[in-house]
Order: sequence, then structure tokens, then C-alpha cells
Amino acid sequence: MKILLTGSSGQVGHALQTSLAGFGEIIAPKREQLDLSNTKAIQEFVAASQPDLIINPAAYTAVDLAEDEVTLAHAINAQAAKAFADQAHTLNIPLIHYSTDYVFDGEKRDDQGNFCPYEESDDCAPIGVYGASKRAGELAIMASGCRHLILRTSWVYSDFGKNFMLTMLRLGADRDQLKVVKDQWGAPTSALWIADKTAEIVGQIQSADNPQEWWQQHQGIVHLTPANSTNWQTFAQAIFEAAFELQLMTRKPEVLGIPSSEYPTRAKRPHNSMLSTARLNKLFGIDVPKWEDCLLDCLRQMKNKQLTKELA
Ligand SMILES: NC(=O)c1ccc[n+]([C@@H]2O[C@H](COP(=O)([O-])OP(=O)(O)OC[C@H]3O[C@@H](n4cnc5c(N)ncnc54)[C@H](OP(=O)(O)O)[C@@H]3O)[C@@H](O)[C@H]2O)c1
Repeated sequence: MKILLTGSSGQVGHALQTSLAGFGEIIAPKREQLDLSNTKAIQEFVAASQPDLIINPAAYTAVDLAEDEVTLAHAINAQAAKAFADQAHTLNIPLIHYSTDYVFDGEKRDDQGNFCPYEESDDCAPIGVYGASKRAGELAIMASGCRHLILRTSWVYSDFGKNFMLTMLRLGADRDQLKVVKDQWGAPTSALWIADKTAEIVGQIQSADNPQEWWQQHQGIVHLTPANSTNWQTFAQAIFEAAFELQLMTRKPEVLGIPSSEYPTRAKRPHNSMLSTARLNKLFGIDVPKWEDCLLDCLRQMKNKQLTKELA
């Protein structure tokens, strides 16, 4: 199987390179080889490489900057996604794409007034440019007619790249106390886990007796996050607890919870980012682990890399 993988210098793309290694040839162009703001280049690259599957984790992910770089955010998250999808349709290549909890306004509540998880079919109402551009990408892919899976995830972190977990470890190393937002709820999702579950799905695609039928039954949007939800304050505390246990930190800073109003950002964030994963289980038989277990896996891998480095 020949897989065209974008965004291999990003968190999910980087992890996918490892998880997909057993499937055959992976073509992973860097930005210098394929700039996603150039739709013609995308069409030509796909036509020239003739992959069996396109996996597109590349995205414009600078949520605050997107409020000022509206055109660029839409170019990468919507127009590039459309270019891949249109070419995938023309050449009959399936596409796996990633999207985000930010397509929702974060206000979904149950009858008791408590936040409750979003289903794939819930109405989207992004509250910022990043979310709007990602939603436009979803709509373009669905309208293209290509065989597709759109995996929506949330609060991505890894031992690589820019993310909340690494920021906490860096700040926590020299501060006694940190203030972290406590009124936004969601599921932290490890890029490693996203990559492993994507590989599991690719395995199912590869072994399908009737690929056409497989895509008819599975195509569409699927939420991909671990179980349980938390807020950023509790996530930060869990990072410090686990990192301390694994001796990645020598002490645990105190984490004070603050409301979002005390930590103003250029872009608004949804208060409720919880995504239901019932469809993931129903379609692919994937049982989701607790986010706490994924965090431990990620930090253990970080520790192992550190030990390997020290021994080298
Ligand atoms: N991060 C999160 O918290 C989060 C949450 C929910 C959903 N998601 C979604 O999950 C997916 C993966 O996110 P991630 O966290 O892995 O993203 P990331 O770490 O920010 O990586 C983004 C990747 O896109 C590439 N890229 C951006 N603009 C490009 C361009 N013009 N040409 C070529 N490549 C370009 C980047 O390349 P360079 O290294 O060259 O910049 C990088 O490899 C995305 O669809 C994202 O929307 C992320």
C-alpha cells in the first residue's frame, strides 16, 4: 500500500509515520516539497504520486493567530482539504482527514443543564476562525464525492511539537504555582493514540473483502478521543503527578484553577469540547481507553527516550 501523508512535521503526522510504517511505502512531503497553500501543487502532487490512500493531518492550527490570518487559515484548512478531496474523487483514492472539537460552539447541555458530549450529527457553530476554517474543510470533503473518513479529535498533545503538556512541563520546571483555566471541558488526546487508532482503521481498510462496500458503511465523520473528560486545571495536575512519579520532574507545582475570563485569548475557546465516541466503537469496534492512561503512555515514552539518550 502506498500512503501519501501530509503534516509529518506536526504532532499527529509525526506519530503516524511510525504507526503506519508496516503498511508499505509512505510518501511524506515536507512543506518545502508541497506547500498546502498551493492547490494546483496539491493536485499535481497527488496525480504524480498515485497513492492508494491519502492521510491529511496537516492543518493551520494556530488558533489565536488565525483570527488575524483568516485567508491563510482557510487556505490550509478548507481549500487544501478540498483540493485533496477533489483530486481523491477524480482518481478514486480514499482520504482520511482530521478535524476538531472547535467546529462546535461548546454550549451543548443535557436536560439537567450539564455539559454533555457532542454527537457527530450535532449542528456545528464554530466561534472562531480556526473552527470555521476546519468546518469548511469538512463540508468540502463531504461534498467532493470522494471516499472519506473525517476523524474529529480534541486537545492534542505529544512529546513532540507545541502543546499544552509540554508547555506545562516547561513552566512547571521553574514555578511553584501555576494558574490554569478550569471552566473548559474536553478529552486530552495523545497524538500517539490517534496515530495508533488510525493505523488500526487503515488495517481494517486494507483487509476489507469488498472495499467499495466498506467505504459505503464507514464513510463520514467519526469522533476520535479517549474516554472521560476533564478541564485544563485537572489535566495540568495529572501531568505533574505522572511526570513526578516517572521522575521527569523533581517537584510538583501547585495548580490553581481560574475562569477563562481571567486568561483572555485572541480567539474564544468552546467551554464544552466533549465528543461522544459511540460511533467509533460501533463502526470500528474500538474501545477507548481513559485519557489518563494515554497520558501515562505518552510520558512513559518520553522517559524511555530520555533514558535511551542518556545511555547513548
Ligand atoms: N493540536 C490540537 O490540539 C488539535 C485539536 C483538535 C484537532 N486537531 C486537528 O488534528 C490534526 C493534527 O493536528 P496537529 O496538532 O498534529 O497539528 P500541528 O502539530 O500543528 O502540525 C501541523 C502540520 O501541518 C503542516 N502545515 C501547516 N501549514 C502547511 C503548509 N502551508 N504546507 C505544508 N504543510 C503545512 C505543518 O508543517 P510545518 O511544520 O512546516 O509548519 C505541520 O506538519 C489537524 O487537522 C488539527 O486541526 C488538533
